[in-house]
Amino acid sequence: MTDIRIAIDGPASSGKSTVAKIIAQDMGLIYLDTGAMYRAVTYLALNNSLDKEEDIIELAQENPISFGIDSDGKQLVYLGEVDVSGAIRQKDVTSNVSRISAMPKIREYLVDAQRFIASHGGIVMDGRDIGTVVLPDAELKIFLVASVDERAERRHKQNQEMNIESDLEILKVEIAERDYKDSTRKTSPLVQAEDAIYLDTTGMSINEVVNFIEDKAKDLIK
Ligand code: CDP
Ligand code: CDP
Repeated sequence: MTDIRIAIDGPASSGKSTVAKIIAQDMGLIYLDTGAMYRAVTYLALNNSLDKEEDIIELAQENPISFGIDSDGKQLVYLGEVDVSGAIRQKDVTSNVSRISAMPKIREYLVDAQRFIASHGGIVMDGRDIGTVVLPDAELKIFLVASVDERAERRHKQNQEMNIESDLEILKVEIAERDYKDSTRKTSPLVQAEDAIYLDTTGMSINEVVNFIEDKAKDLIK
């Protein structure tokens, strides 16, 4: 068991959560999908027609986010007692999440929760601002990228597997738009931390990416 903290950041559909989950399992670390937290809060805001960040936070406090796992090992996301794992991946949430996650107080609220979870020991966390803001002193930081075309194809395939409505050409535009919004917002934009390792995964398999990161992690805990 190790207390290493691994921060994996990068744009939409670059493979962050897939590889983070596998690494956490292989190395006996906690896994935290911070994107799911922003999606859950966005779902709450949309479902209750809330626009003001104070109101959204108040409702989020009444319906705390928690994680579970189903019998197939799939991650489940709850708001209070309600399973929102499927709902937070739907189109309306995806097209509004960058707007809601640009709100500074919402970020402050979720970053506090993320740091609290990380204070319990070894963790793999994936998101947009983990290496820069949430865990600036993480022992290992990875910045994962891949071409927009490949990321759209990956997400298209994933959507089809999850029975989520999907159109490849629309996805390319949506992913590029979300990258732009996430990279240009004022608070905690998506940028590579200076001490992060940049990895272009275009053409790489999930296993190749996992092995690359695990080798770096093992070098650190030798
Ligand atoms: O999986 P996908 O790349 O579609 O996105 P995600 O990781 O589920 O994150 C959804 C959205 O949440 C991102 O597009 C960001 O707007 C926001 N996010 C963020 O601002 N900061 C994070 N640490 C994680 C996600
Ligand atoms: O978390 P993020 O949005 O960065 O991406 P993801 O949800 O982990 O990955 C999106 C899809 O790409 C998943 O279906 C992965 O299985 C797939 N993927 C891939 O085909 N090749 C990789 N090297 C990484 C992910």
